[in-house]
Amino acid sequence: MPDTAVSPVITSRSESTGTSQANAGTGYERPAVEFRNIDIAYGKFVAVRDFSLAIPRGSFVTLLGPSGCGKTTILRSIAGLVDISRGQISIGGRRVDDIPIYKRNIGLVFQSYALFPHKSVFDNVAFGLKYRNVPKPEITRRVGKALEMVRLPGSEKKLPSQLSGGQQQRIALARAIVFEPEVLLLDEPLSALDANMREEMRVEIKKIQKETGITAIFVTHDQEEALSMSDQIVVMNAGMMEQIGTPEEVYETPRTSFVADFLGKANLLAGSVTASDGQNATVALKAGQRVSVVSPRPLSTGTDITIVLRPQKVQVGAGIENRLSGRVISASYLGGNVIYEIDIGEQTVIRANSQLVGKMIPEGEAIEIGFDPAGCVLLDETGSRVS
Ligand SMILES: Nc1ncnc2c1ncn2[C@@H]1O[C@H](COP(=O)(O)OP(=O)(O)O)[C@@H](O)[C@H]1O
Ligand SMILES: [Mg+2]
Repeated sequence: MPDTAVSPVITSRSESTGTSQANAGTGYERPAVEFRNIDIAYGKFVAVRDFSLAIPRGSFVTLLGPSGCGKTTILRSIAGLVDISRGQISIGGRRVDDIPIYKRNIGLVFQSYALFPHKSVFDNVAFGLKYRNVPKPEITRRVGKALEMVRLPGSEKKLPSQLSGGQQQRIALARAIVFEPEVLLLDEPLSALDANMREEMRVEIKKIQKETGITAIFVTHDQEEALSMSDQIVVMNAGMMEQIGTPEEVYETPRTSFVADFLGKANLLAGSVTASDGQNATVALKAGQRVSVVSPRPLSTGTDITIVLRPQKVQVGAGIENRLSGRVISASYLGGNVIYEIDIGEQTVIRANSQLVGKMIPEGEAIEIGFDPAGCVLLDETGSRVS
């Protein structure tokens, strides 16, 4: 074994619980994939910088970030399609340098289905098996099983052109899982599909991943996709990891203003501390009002601070804590909920997503809003969470 050091977090967790990762029982509890301090450069341009991550077996991990932040580059490095210029990547505890590309047991699904257009569904799905010299009856059995799994049983004889976009993507998925890869890489596999199909496929992919217990690394720039599918989300920005956590963690407790803003259009309210006792702080907003927030530690008077307030945490109506008066700039009815954009003065606009009680308040009218002092996150001058 050329590589013995493993991320301490993963090791201690699997030892102490001794339980149910999806693939427990294989007796092999090294991370399915581990990156250690990798850099990836295209010429002089460093696309990924100092990236470290250990992905537990059987988990569903998403790389989330805007276009160009390095997500595809990281996936390509696992498959050996791009070279790393620093650091190490291991698959199942083995450094990938020791594994030739064709022996890396990896399934790939991309945005474009990349099916062979003139080959039947059977031949498309069987491709990876023929290539691996699996006997014919076994190929037939496994293709049948994979097609059942993606809910297109009996479609062996069809051509890709006879299938819808969503169905073609299911075939691409069947082709990627049919040889039981160690890791499944999915690069924006849903972005070419229409909205309804996208939601259906989210559920489908997640179900297949759970049933097979396969380790999946999913890439998307769509926060809803990431939040609804992932065990862990890695938020990326300009080639670097900004934060890693469960969907709830990255959404509820963003560590930086980038994460707060990228996930869910947070309201970022600038202000400065006027009083603080270690549990609560009073903040004078740039817009003029004073609000009270729960603070994890005492803050010096005069400290510049940004309050991260989710639209869902903004309450509409009078008699609420942290009362702010404003005027409705826009109101959109979303069936049960209303999205308001509210001008609270000094060019500060707050977005509220609130359940409709009574009548909607129309554009141009005055509105009272507020929020729970514990319902927000504080960021310091550097844009990092106060903790
Ligand atoms: N083959 C390449 N040659 C040069 N630059 C590249 C190449 N592929 C990607 N890049 C650059 O690397 C950065 C990351 O790209 P990519 O990993 O594709 O981002 P993402 O998948 O997050 O949109 C981008 O700035 C992109 O322009
Ligand atoms: Mg990409």
